[in-house]
Amino acid sequence: MAVGVGQFESQSSLRYSPQATALQQTVAREFNLLVAENVMKPQYLHPEENRYFWEDADYLVSFAKRHGMAIHGHTLVWHQALPAWMQHYSGNWDGMLKEHISTVVSRYSADIASWDVVNEAFLDDGTPRDSVWQQHVPDYIAKAFYYANQSDPDGEWYYNDYNLEGMPKKLDAVLAMANGLRQRQIGMTGIGFQMHIDRYWPSLESIRTAFEKTVAAGLKVRISELDIRMNVNGDEAQLSAQLAAIQQQRYHDIITTYLQTVPAEYRGGISFWGVSDKYSWVPAYYQHADWPLLFDDHLQRKAAWHGVYEAL
Ligand code: XIL
Repeated sequence: MAVGVGQFESQSSLRYSPQATALQQTVAREFNLLVAENVMKPQYLHPEENRYFWEDADYLVSFAKRHGMAIHGHTLVWHQALPAWMQHYSGNWDGMLKEHISTVVSRYSADIASWDVVNEAFLDDGTPRDSVWQQHVPDYIAKAFYYANQSDPDGEWYYNDYNLEGMPKKLDAVLAMANGLRQRQIGMTGIGFQMHIDRYWPSLESIRTAFEKTVAAGLKVRISELDIRMNVNGDEAQLSAQLAAIQQQRYHDIITTYLQTVPAEYRGGISFWGVSDKYSWVPAYYQHADWPLLFDDHLQRKAAWHGVYEAL
């Protein structure tokens, strides 16, 4: 099974990080799957209507190939990380959507076997998210999957979102959407559960139920951006030995739940959203310290790493 890591942005990038050499060694040694944390998002890949920027994405792809790692593409359509020209686009949106998807998918079809086609299209209550895509191409989810399939008939196509494992209404809306695509014979391989979770939430029971429902719907399950926040209230100054042990157990439980609940042929793999705590997106996003990943600031394996290792 592919077990990988999200990579690439200034400080955390395999290419530009101050720790680049050590980071590259760690990634190549520890994982067999690579995901671009940022550089395959439209903002980076497609900065102007008639100009693509492939350099950083190509670097990631060639690194992965050199080390025999698989690559999962993230992400073709999202309401964030849009280049300014897309946000203010006044031309034919459907044509623009198709052009972007077919150009990116075709370029990497030999190297990237699976993609997040649409990211975060639903709100937690299960209603569709209002976005430029929704406004300009109301049927954009189905169209995006259709264009992706057309560009590479052998690809694996995922819908990716957060909180699906803890908010049943949201998952139900996604599964209803997937069912709609199936009725129109538009291929969707599975669901990416981002799983930016914390030490308490969601419960294992809730996660198990969500995975089971997805498998019952005939869809693969990917854990796509796993990290586990330990400083939920922001009052912890460091990852104490006690907290580290709790995190180890939590990681162990999540991976075990995945392996026990999702049959092998329905497993799309697991990726973590970064390597070392030092460059995790979490502290910046939540505005206080946290230690959500498997490696510490110096790229040493944490207790959390052992939790995953023992479960696999
Ligand atoms: C995040 C990156 O980790 C950050 O570096 C960036 O500033 C913002 O995006 N859900 C997703 C990811 O699908 O693309 C997001 O990644 C985290 C939430």
